[in-house]
Amino acid sequence: TLLRTQLSGDEIIVVSNREPYIHEWQGEQTIVRRPASGLVTAVEPVMRACSGTWIAHGSGSADREFVDAHDRLMLPPGHKDYALRRIWLSDEEVRGYYNGFANEGLWPLCHMVHIRPTFRESDWETYRAVNRRFADAVVAEAHSEDPVILVQDYHFALLPAMIRERLPRATILAFWHIPWPNPESFGICPWRREILQGMLGSTILGFQTRNHSQNFIETVDRYLEARVEHEHSTISFRGETSFVESYPISIEWPGSAASADWPSPQNCRDEVFSQLGLRAGQRIILGVDRFDYTKGIIERLQAFEHLLQHNPQWIGEVSLLQIAAPTRSALADYQGLHAKVHDMVAALNARFGRAGYTPVILQNVQHDQRWLARLYRAAAVCVVSSLHDGMNLVSKEFVAARDDEQGVLILSRFTGAARELSEALLVNPYHVEDVAQAMQRALLMPADEQRERLASMRMTVQEFNVFRWAGHILSDASRWRLRERIEARV
Ligand code: G6P
Repeated sequence: TLLRTQLSGDEIIVVSNREPYIHEWQGEQTIVRRPASGLVTAVEPVMRACSGTWIAHGSGSADREFVDAHDRLMLPPGHKDYALRRIWLSDEEVRGYYNGFANEGLWPLCHMVHIRPTFRESDWETYRAVNRRFADAVVAEAHSEDPVILVQDYHFALLPAMIRERLPRATILAFWHIPWPNPESFGICPWRREILQGMLGSTILGFQTRNHSQNFIETVDRYLEARVEHEHSTISFRGETSFVESYPISIEWPGSAASADWPSPQNCRDEVFSQLGLRAGQRIILGVDRFDYTKGIIERLQAFEHLLQHNPQWIGEVSLLQIAAPTRSALADYQGLHAKVHDMVAALNARFGRAGYTPVILQNVQHDQRWLARLYRAAAVCVVSSLHDGMNLVSKEFVAARDDEQGVLILSRFTGAARELSEALLVNPYHVEDVAQAMQRALLMPADEQRERLASMRMTVQEFNVFRWAGHILSDASRWRLRERIEARV
């Protein structure tokens, strides 16, 4: 309701690459799937609360005519109150804009994980052209001359300025879900100036942490002739001013309808253990990630191996369950990661496995929210070992799922979430022994310490939930609009 009041009368348009629901053929039928994406996890509940139009790249296998015709009706029950408008891209556009510039260029450029970015002129041109197509769609969807437009992530760095040109009175809020690197790192991008100029079409530029927003401001200071006011966190460029701030993103709280039907933790354990063929009394260390090289899955496996080697009492007792949702599998760096992880898992299982005990269970599939909640509730430990992560919402989802206040979160220091969830066992994922030690400590942690840590983290996530995130950006935006109006009078 707070969000609705803040937006009363305003038209709201969200733009993201990922669509919140993917329609796929399954035999004769069309099914609806939710993609694995922190962005979708966070923004979808906001959209459900605010209504409006969501423009995204259509990626499912269902017929386009069918999906377009059902842009409202095809959503699952209770999710009808916003329109979903798909942009259909050709294979060539997907290659250049998504696989190429976004995921081989900007993604490794922004994540400090020592994967070399690849920049191709043709990818850049396609990226620009696709941003242009989305700008056209925004203008076509806008019914008023001053809509509120929420531009999401690194797929659309050029969109804010393209929209600003054609809808000068729009309130454009761009949110960068991934880290922003320091000026030297960013400077290797051949189109650094164009990207910064594109982003500065925004009214507000949001980042996950203060560190990232500071990096952005310093990057602009270094490469553009812009006026930077550090004190007010504003950047003025070619007569327009943007406000740069950090807004740590979060998850829905209270949970979605799904949380109402959570079985007790004991029932979750029973269900999960029988599905996985685990012996009662065994314990699960859980990892839930997209199958991405930024997530530190290799380092996690090394740590688990170290744990079993140095604490053989866990052999036969503890399994690492790693959910790795498929993503970007057309790219060589991702294929290399798959191969390496599969090899490591095979070696680990050969070394420590025995009849009735599989040390590592790797599931290279995407699970739905309901099953994930059961896994979170069944696990003894949840481990997030990202090498670098803008926020990481898995950590917050785990905390939210544990209303029994039991279970231990191991969390990489290099996630945005580590700033808020300081009661987790914070680790350096590059330091294998450190992570193994945290696993050991987690497995031995007394119930009352688990309760204290979770209770505190649950308060944080409850208070700083995603509605608060959206409310914070939107109230800054309305204050900003007012100030501009007042300044225009003098
Ligand atoms: C990150 C990005 C999102 C992206 C998601 C999934 O969370 O910030 O923009 O949607 O990863 O990646 P994918 O390429 O599978 O959409």
